Amino acid sequence: MVGRTSMASLILISLAAAASIMTPTASALIHVVGGSNGWEIPPNATFYAEWAKPRTFGVGDKLVFPYRTGAHNVLQVSAKDFETCSDDDVINYFFKGPTVVQLNATGDYYYYSGVGTHCEAGQKLHITVGKAPGSSGKFYYSAAISASPLAPAPAPPVSSATAAQLSGVFASVFAVSHWLFV
Ligand SMILES: *[C@@H]1O[C@H](CO)[C@@H](O)[C@H](O)[C@H]1NC(C)=O
Ligand SMILES: *[C@@H]1O[C@H](CO)[C@@H](O)[C@H](O)[C@H]1NC(C)=O
Repeated sequence: MVGRTSMASLILISLAAAASIMTPTASALIHVVGGSNGWEIPPNATFYAEWAKPRTFGVGDKLVFPYRTGAHNVLQVSAKDFETCSDDDVINYFFKGPTVVQLNATGDYYYYSGVGTHCEAGQKLHITVGKAPGSSGKFYYSAAISASPLAPAPAPPVSSATAAQLSGVFASVFAVSHWLFV
């Protein structure tokens, strides 16, 4: 006979299993580095950090570095090399544009263009791949902007959104409306 406690844990386990089945697993994102700017000498030194900031990078996501072969390249280096634009510990070297890398593990990834003084000019990207699924961060922005009291909120497009991004939107909308009406 199954006791009350073990029945309860059985139900919990089944619920957890159902939830994990419903969680989208094929939600890997493709991040186009630099957006419409691509992988170029940036207008300022914080450009790629600003591009990465709203994003979440998940395991299985891909980075696309759009550039013309010969004009730029992509060196994956250590944190120390990244800071100093040196090439003592080159982990990977890509020179045929566009470069696509799949982020297969959690951790920190450091890239720069090793052509000329591109790295010194700020053509460098540091990202951290975490356990959460990838996100472009755009939905958070549009939720925050559309929640402005002056502009009526347009519905964000939902077709391509993952469940995680959607729940993020609802959370932000809730947080903003909470702030507006309390
Ligand atoms: C860097 O350049 C981008 C693109 O022009 C711009 O959006 C951003 O505000 C700039 N950042 C700084 C700190 O000037
Ligand atoms: C990541 O995994 C894919 C698929 O298994 C493999 O083709 C690719 O070489 C891996 N990338 C790196 C940087 O290890």
